[in-house]
Formats: sequence, structure tokens, C-alpha cells
Amino acid sequence: MESRSSTSLVSSLLLSLLLVLPSLPSLTLSASSFRCNTHDYNTLLGIKKALNNPYDIIAWLPNVDCCDWPGITCDENTNRVTQFDISHSNLSAEIPPAVGNLTYLQYLTFHKNPGLHGSIPSTITKLVHLKFLRFSWDGLSGPIPEFLGQLKNLEYLNLDFNQFSGSIPDSLGYLPKLSALFLDRNKLSGPIPYSFGGFKTSDFYLILSHNQLSGEIPCSLGAVDLTKIDLSHNQLVGDASTLFVPNGNLQTIDLSRNKFDFVLSGVKFPKTLIYLDLSHNHIHGSIPKEIIKLELQTLNVTYNGLCGRIPYGKNMKRFDYDSFFHNPCLCGKPLPSCK
Ligand SMILES: *[C@@H]1O[C@H](CO)[C@@H](O)[C@H](O)[C@H]1NC(C)=O
Ligand SMILES: *[C@@H]1O[C@H](CO)[C@@H](O)[C@H](O)[C@H]1NC(C)=O
Ligand SMILES: *[C@@H]1O[C@H](CO)[C@@H](O)[C@H](O)[C@H]1NC(C)=O
Repeated sequence: MESRSSTSLVSSLLLSLLLVLPSLPSLTLSASSFRCNTHDYNTLLGIKKALNNPYDIIAWLPNVDCCDWPGITCDENTNRVTQFDISHSNLSAEIPPAVGNLTYLQYLTFHKNPGLHGSIPSTITKLVHLKFLRFSWDGLSGPIPEFLGQLKNLEYLNLDFNQFSGSIPDSLGYLPKLSALFLDRNKLSGPIPYSFGGFKTSDFYLILSHNQLSGEIPCSLGAVDLTKIDLSHNQLVGDASTLFVPNGNLQTIDLSRNKFDFVLSGVKFPKTLIYLDLSHNHIHGSIPKEIIKLELQTLNVTYNGLCGRIPYGKNMKRFDYDSFFHNPCLCGKPLPSCK
């Protein structure tokens, strides 16, 4: 009997809770419980308006705490907006200069918004705390601004898959904390800045492929602790052998589809190398025997001026004709035997 009444008490409590629940969200709407900083709130609404209120961010509702808006993250202690991410949107607008008023931002992303056009506004130089800047797969154009060099806390800069043109500013080479730079798939021309040899961080990712870069690569680049470098699909010339540092940490190097012209014979590969694509260049000499000692997973030296016997055995057995063809006088397995 007692247990029955306690059960019914529990169920009536549950029932009343269920009745109350639907009205609970209205409680969280009271402005006093908002974490959102008023300045950031107003700035974000200005940004939304400048983006022409795109369908995707209509969910930035004025009666919801801006720290809970999609793509927005606030700092746990200060409640200032530290992360801003608008991706996969069908908005049609330029980057609102008001973004520069979110002065506590550390992460700023516009990714896969094909209708985002125009150039990068200079107001983003106000974002002195910015570590991560990603404007990728958008429709941005104009030069890569020299003023990005003022964002001294930048660790990651990604502007790939846009229409940026002109040359790469020297100033990027002086970003003291930068460890990943993606400028691939744009319309950039001119040389790789000499200042790029000054990158100080370890484990550097440098991706400049699919542009119209020309000239020689700065020899200073050999001093950078690169993990991955992709210079493929450009018009670079000269000697790229300085990139192979025997005691370095290089894992991936793609120099394919350029006009590099150097002797491969004396190159000392770093032991860490797993991906090597030198195809479609003017590289000559022979393939160094030490290549056998590497744990390469990808190798492509096709369409060059190489000669001599292909070092064979161990890991090299995994590569077939497709890794070596179209060289004037490479020979031996997996190509026809040497005369
Ligand atoms: C964006 O997508 C939404 C949903 O598909 C659609 O209602 C809206 O008209 C689109 N806006 C533009 C500018 O294409
Ligand atoms: C940024 O904030 C300042 C100060 O509140 C204001 O005067 C300015 O108009 C804002 N900039 C933009 C682009 O909204
Ligand atoms: C090497 O590159 C050439 C030229 O782009 C390509 O045809 C070939 O399939 C590639 N080989 C491998 C093993 O990927």
C-alpha cells in the first residue's frame, strides 16, 4: 500500500515536471542569463545584416544567447566570442569589415561559401589574438594582403581554393608562430618569398600547389623544419635539392609539374620520407641507391631526364612501371633491363 502511494507520488511528480518542461526554454530566454557580451552581440547582428541575413544563419535568433548561436563559441571565463565559423553557406556577400570588431577572436573561419566574394578587409588586423584563420573554398579574390603579417599570433593560415592573385607577400614569412600555410589552388604568381626561409616553428606544413608561381625556390627554405611541402603545378625552376635535408623530418614532398632542373644523384633523402613526387620536371642524373632504405609509400619520378639503373629491392619492390616511365634512360626492374 505504502509503496503504491509512493509510486503514484513519483508518477504525479513526473507528470507535473512534463507539464512544466515545455515552458522551461522560455526561462533561458531571460536576458539576465545570457552569457553573450553586449558588444559582441551587436557586432554579430551587424555581421549577419552585412551578410544579407543568409538562410543558414537565420538561426542567429536575437532571443537566444549569442554564445549558443551556430558557429559561435565564447570563452568560458570572459564570455567573449573567441570562435567564429560560417561554412557551407549559400550566402552572397563580401566579408563584413565588422568582423574586425570581434577583438577576442582566436579562430576565424569562412569555409565553402562559394558566394563569399571580394577581398580580405583590413579590419582583421584588429584581431590580435587570432591563431587560426581559414578562408578556404570561397570565392575570394584580390591580392593576399601584406597586412596579414600583422597577425603575430597566427599559427594556421589557410586561403586555399579561392581566386587570389598577385604575388605572395614577404610579410607572411615573418609570422613568428606560423606552422601551417595553405595558399594552394589560387592564381598566385611571382616567386616564393625569400623570407619563407625564416619560419621558425617545427613540423611546418607549406602548401603552395596549383598556382602560377615562378622563379627559383629560396635556398633558405632548406632551414625550415618541414613535415610537408607541396609546390606542385607551378612554373618553378632551378634546384630544389636544398629541400632534402638528411636529418630533417620531411614526410611528404610534391614538386611535380614544375620546371625544376637539378641532378638527383647526390641527393640525401631524409629517413622520414614517405611520399615523393618529382614527376614532370627536368630532373636528371640517377636515382640515389639510399632510396632503398626509405619507407616510401608513394614514388613518382616519371617525365624527367633520369638515367641509370633503378635501385631495386626491399621497399622499392612495391613500385611498378607507373612510378618510373618517360625518362630517357632509366633501366632495370620494373623497367626493361639495362643494356
Ligand atoms: C539558400 O538556401 C535556402 C535553402 O535551400 C533557400 O531557401 C534560399 O533561397 C537560398 N538563398 C540563396 C541566396 O540562394
Ligand atoms: C567597429 O566598432 C566601432 C566602435 O564601436 C564602430 O565605430 C565601427 O563602426 C565598427 N566597425 C564596423 C565595420 O562595424
Ligand atoms: C606518376 O605521374 C604520372 C604523370 O602525372 C602519372 O601518369 C602516373 O600514373 C603516376 N604514377 C603513380 C604511381 O602514381
